[in-house]
Amino acid sequence: MEVTFRIQRYNPEKDNEPRIEEFKFEASENMTVLDCLHKIKWDFDGSLSFRRSCAHGICGSDGMRINGKNKLACATLLKTLNTKKPILIEPLPSMPIIKDLVMDMTDFYEKNKTVKPYLINHTPPPADSERFQTNEDAEKLFESAKCILCACCTTSCPSTWSNENYIGPAALLKAYRFVHDTRDDAGDERLDIIDTPDGIWRCHTIFNCIESCPKEINITWHISQLKKDISAKEL
Ligand code: SF4
Ligand code: SF4
Ligand code: FES
Repeated sequence: MEVTFRIQRYNPEKDNEPRIEEFKFEASENMTVLDCLHKIKWDFDGSLSFRRSCAHGICGSDGMRINGKNKLACATLLKTLNTKKPILIEPLPSMPIIKDLVMDMTDFYEKNKTVKPYLINHTPPPADSERFQTNEDAEKLFESAKCILCACCTTSCPSTWSNENYIGPAALLKAYRFVHDTRDDAGDERLDIIDTPDGIWRCHTIFNCIESCPKEINITWHISQLKKDISAKEL
């Protein structure tokens, strides 16, 4: 079948503003959007820039806007899109563009760092084993630990669009992952970090983040648990 891709192109060093470029080619319905971007780059225009690595929904590097929705290009099959119409590809919104579909994710990573996304434990580890958890305790973390830091959620959040200082759902989810880790000693410290007007209280439970998460994580549920944790701590 013939498909038409309309791709936002922008090179800040040369262009005054982004423009849309169109590519038409033969494709099969089992190709992913990432396969198509590779075809365009290899067969039509080697200057097209986008990030990718694993091609299997693991690395989180190819989040982009596909027909107006934040998705992973490698996890989006053509057969799930209406290929009778042009497929619009844009970079994730609300991040500076480095080139074409490559955004500057520095701010996203910096916000993630503020919640201390690593295990903090003030006691020495056991001499002859790892720090164990029960299966039940580990299960409480599994959903939040599935996050691949693709930024699809944070860049789909209206609170992010309206306030660049908002920490965003991905960083809040990361906070949950460690606050609820029974091996970690810094839960209260992390709750204090996110307990600010530009922290967790900027989330107004609009649910855009859940719809755009390629790992189907119920982000809003995790954020609401953190809100309960903060309220319980203040009692
Ligand atoms: S639920 Fe919160 S974090 Fe998610 S999109 Fe809405 S405001 Fe943003
Ligand atoms: S929570 Fe989901 S959408 Fe957000 S960064 Fe993690 S994997 Fe991506
Ligand atoms: S290329 Fe790694 S998640 Fe898509």
